[in-house]
Amino acid sequence: MRVIASKEEMRRACREAARPLGLVPTMGALHQGHLSLVDRARADCASVAVSIFVNPTQFAEGEDFAEYPRDLELDLEMLRQRGVDLVFVPDVAEVYPPGFHTWVDVGPIADRLEGAARPGHFRGVATVVAKLFGVVQPERAYFGQKDGQQTVVVRKLARDLDMGIEVVVLPTVREADGLAMSSRNVRLNPEQRQAAAVVYRALSAGLGIWYGGETDATAIVSTAQLQLDSEPLVRSVDYVSLADPETLEELALASPGGMLSVAAHLGSVRLIDNVILE
Ligand code: PAF
Repeated sequence: MRVIASKEEMRRACREAARPLGLVPTMGALHQGHLSLVDRARADCASVAVSIFVNPTQFAEGEDFAEYPRDLELDLEMLRQRGVDLVFVPDVAEVYPPGFHTWVDVGPIADRLEGAARPGHFRGVATVVAKLFGVVQPERAYFGQKDGQQTVVVRKLARDLDMGIEVVVLPTVREADGLAMSSRNVRLNPEQRQAAAVVYRALSAGLGIWYGGETDATAIVSTAQLQLDSEPLVRSVDYVSLADPETLEELALASPGGMLSVAAHLGSVRLIDNVILE
């Protein structure tokens, strides 16, 4: 496994790699969710590249960029065991050298949900993903459904900019109590960790009444919200939403494919999760 910090060297290594090449973009602090993407890329592709870069431009002032968990040595060990070929570990100056000015804006889908709660977040995500795609030029790129809106943004970016990259989205990997795996979970204290299961309980409650025949989006959203309200350690809820899977506009009438999503704060940790109405 080659670990590469320079864009030029990474570009060369990717050009020489056996094809198809699959890319798994990450911010490190890897968990089973990331590893499921790596395993799928390994099964699908002749070569696998993983990027590890905590991207400062997707964090706003006052967010958890400095506190974001980092453990490069452990990450590299896990990737070595999974048979990854190339790991790209650039520093901030390598990705954003002096004079960098070009940003990717994917339009209104970036302003809803996470975008409303975290203005500028998806401009940072879309820009860094476009840059990673530019350096690696993979045939396929792998993302987790847990960051549901991010998958919509990345698909749109790849389509609108004619990148010719297939965006593969894989199911959320969950702990036994339903909590979606996330690098940020390590920042929950034991009480918060126990309480955090309420996020998936809330989504499941909403999903449950949809399965029971409810199609009024307000009823589904309120059911999920009630669950969140019942957990005293939930400090605040940024949104509970039932949105169209492509435009991310709020639905009045629930329909298959709709994305029921939540963002809630437990202490200083912000958790997001979603389920798709099947
Ligand atoms: O999902 C993430 O870890 C990040 O948002 C990504 C896609 C690697 C871009 O920094």
